[in-house]
Amino acid sequence: MHTNIDTLFAHLWDKYVAITPSAHKIHSLLAGEEGREQIVNDHVAFRTFNLGKTNLEKLAAHFLALGYEAKGDYNFEAKKLTAQHFEHPDDTKPKVFISELRVEELSQTAQDIIVGLVNSMNAHAVDSDDFLYSGRHWALTKEDYDTLLNESEYAAWLAAWGFQANHFTVSVNYLAQYQSLAQVNALLKSAGFVLNTSGGEIKGGEDVFLAQSSTMADKAVVTMGSEQVEIPSCFYEFAQRYTMPNGRRYQGFVAASADKIFESTNAK
Ligand code: NI
Repeated sequence: MHTNIDTLFAHLWDKYVAITPSAHKIHSLLAGEEGREQIVNDHVAFRTFNLGKTNLEKLAAHFLALGYEAKGDYNFEAKKLTAQHFEHPDDTKPKVFISELRVEELSQTAQDIIVGLVNSMNAHAVDSDDFLYSGRHWALTKEDYDTLLNESEYAAWLAAWGFQANHFTVSVNYLAQYQSLAQVNALLKSAGFVLNTSGGEIKGGEDVFLAQSSTMADKAVVTMGSEQVEIPSCFYEFAQRYTMPNGRRYQGFVAASADKIFESTNAK
């Protein structure tokens, strides 16, 4: 287990930007010419399979050990996902959003592929310090990738990339130069970045105390058998949180919005 939260997130960021160059560019764009503006992360998201060696609880253990606490529970029926979010008592630390695919709800063919991949993992891999940014632990064929993609974009993404941050999220609330998510979106579009428009460019809003947008994932090359295949990698998200009637800023997630954010790694 990592002993330092900031070191863990630094490793996660390095692994993430290596296959998400647009996140690096946007980070610099928002930070300004002199890098004067500090970029605060609202949350970092992870994907996993709900099998014994890899389930949500196993990933969460890394964060619980760092003082994080479990908060909200979420269910994404159509995408067959269960998720949980975690917060740290020090609210300058990013929230963590972990989802897991309910493998047993997929077709027998897809289940067999996923069980085969996870079976080839070292039994204690998940406990190692670097697990959260360790990438793929199995060999994957293009044929199996395509079979999974046909049924679950999430399953295919996870089979191809393995374990690493799926996205980082800029907190718009902490940007001194920009007052709203709409302003940030306008900047990104004028700089040529492509936003996810599934469910609208801005998901949620003041009425649900959280507004979110995201880029469409970059593309990067992965090895599948003897082939090099270019597929969606990771995306960058932007979140603006609003104050609730009780005077506190909302810290949870909105399932209907998150459902659309997942689609940022769709190939089409
Ligand atoms: Ni997110």
